[in-house]
Amino acid sequence: MSIQIPRGTQDILPGTVEKWQLIEETAKEVCRKYLYEEIRTPIFEHTELFLRGVGDTTDIVQKEMYTFEDRGERSLTLRPEGTASVVRSFTENKMYGNANQPVKLYYIGPMFRYERPQKGRYRQFVQFGVEALGSMDPAIDAEVISLAMQIYKQLGLKKLKLVINSLGDNSSRAAHRTALINHFQPSIHEFCSDCQNRLEKNPLRILDCKKDRDHELMKTAPSILDYLNEESSLYFEKVKQYLSLMNIDFIVDPTLVRGLDYYNHTAFEIMSEAEGFGAITTLCGGGRYNGLVQEMGGPETPGIGFAFSVERLISALEAEGIEITQEQQIDCYVIALGEKAKDYSVTLLQSLRQAGFSAERDYLNRKMKAQFKAAERLNAKHVIILGEDELAAGKVAVKNLQSGDQVELPLENFINEYTTLSN
Ligand code: HAM
Repeated sequence: MSIQIPRGTQDILPGTVEKWQLIEETAKEVCRKYLYEEIRTPIFEHTELFLRGVGDTTDIVQKEMYTFEDRGERSLTLRPEGTASVVRSFTENKMYGNANQPVKLYYIGPMFRYERPQKGRYRQFVQFGVEALGSMDPAIDAEVISLAMQIYKQLGLKKLKLVINSLGDNSSRAAHRTALINHFQPSIHEFCSDCQNRLEKNPLRILDCKKDRDHELMKTAPSILDYLNEESSLYFEKVKQYLSLMNIDFIVDPTLVRGLDYYNHTAFEIMSEAEGFGAITTLCGGGRYNGLVQEMGGPETPGIGFAFSVERLISALEAEGIEITQEQQIDCYVIALGEKAKDYSVTLLQSLRQAGFSAERDYLNRKMKAQFKAAERLNAKHVIILGEDELAAGKVAVKNLQSGDQVELPLENFINEYTTLSN
C-alpha cells in the first residue's frame, strides 16, 4: 500500500509554490520598508515555553500541541505559534540591550497544531508574523496593524474587515474578570465543561467559546470596554486615532478576546469578507502582550505583534478571484539533432545559463516535433536549433516562437550575438 500524506498537511507543488514565493517576497518587502528584521527560531522548543507563554487554559496547550519526549527524556513541542519563541529568543539573547529600540522582528515558517482539519485549518501551516518589542507607544500598535493591512493591500485583497478591541491593563482586566465571574457563576452548569473550567482560571475565554456562543448570558456579558481604567482607555483612543489618521477602517468589537492568554490592551483580527472564503473568516490575529518578556525571565518589556497563515491568505485571494502569479516564460530551448550536436548542446546550455539566460534542452531523446512541443509548453521565447550541418558550418538557427522569425547566428561569439538578439 502506498504511503499517504499525514492528515492536515499539504504538499505545495510546483505551479502553486510560486504563489507562496510571491507572498513571502511581498511580506518581506513590506517588512523592509517598516524596518522589521527577520528572526529564525527552532521548530521545536521546550514544552514549558508554551505552557508558560501561550497559557495552560488555552485550546492550543490543552488539546493541540505535538509534544514528544526526546531520547534524553526532555519534553519538547513542535511550535504551535511564533510569539513565545520570539520572546524567548529576545530574552535569551538580551535584545532588550540592543542599541536600536524597539526591536522589530518578523518570521515565517511552519507551525503545528493538532486541530480538526478543514478548509483553512491545517495541522501544519505556515505563519508569517511580526513582533515589536520595547515600546508602549500606541503608534507602534497602529504601525503593526498597518503593516498587516499593507501586505494584504499589496497582494490585491479588498474585501477585508479589521476588528479591534482593548483588553486593558492588568487592573482593568482584574475588574472585568470579577464582573465576568459574577455574571456567569450562577448559571455556569448550563455551559460546556471547558467553560466551567475557564470560569475560575480565565473567564475571558468563555466569551470565545464556540459551543456556548448562543447562550443568553453571552449577549449580556459585561463588556471589557466598560472596565477599562483611564490609562487603558486613553491608550485605546490613541490607537484608534492613529488608525483613522492612516485611513485604515476598523470596527470595535468588545467581544474579541483572542485564543491565547498573553494579550492585554490592543487585540485585533483581520477577516475576509469575500463570498466563498469559508466558515473560518479570520485571516490574521494579533495584539499586545506586555508582561510576556517578564514571564520568560526578562525585564519588563512591552510587546505587540500579529501572525497570519499563508494558507488562509491564499484562500482569501482565491475567494476574491485574484491571480497573483504571472505566466512563466523561459529564454530558450535548445534542440540538438544528432550525436555531435547533442554533445555540443551540453556546453551551449552551460554558457547560456552562466550568461544569465533560462535555458532547457531535451533529455528524453524525443523527435524534433516533440522537442518543439516541449519548448512551447515551457513558453520559450526562442528555440535554438543545433543540426549537424549547421554545426559543421559554425552556425545555429534561432527561432522566435512568438513571431515565427528565424535567423542564423555564428557559433563563434554566440552568447554575445544571442544577447543582442534577445534585447
Ligand atoms: P493565532 O490567532 O493563534 O495567533 O493565529 C494567527 C493566525 O494563524 C490565524 O489568524 C490564522 O491565519 C493562522 N492559523 C492559526 N491556526 C491555523 C491552522 N490550524 N491552519 C491554518 N492557519 C492557522 C497567534 O498565533 C499569535 N502568535 C499571533 C500573535 C503574534 N500575537 C502577537 N504576536
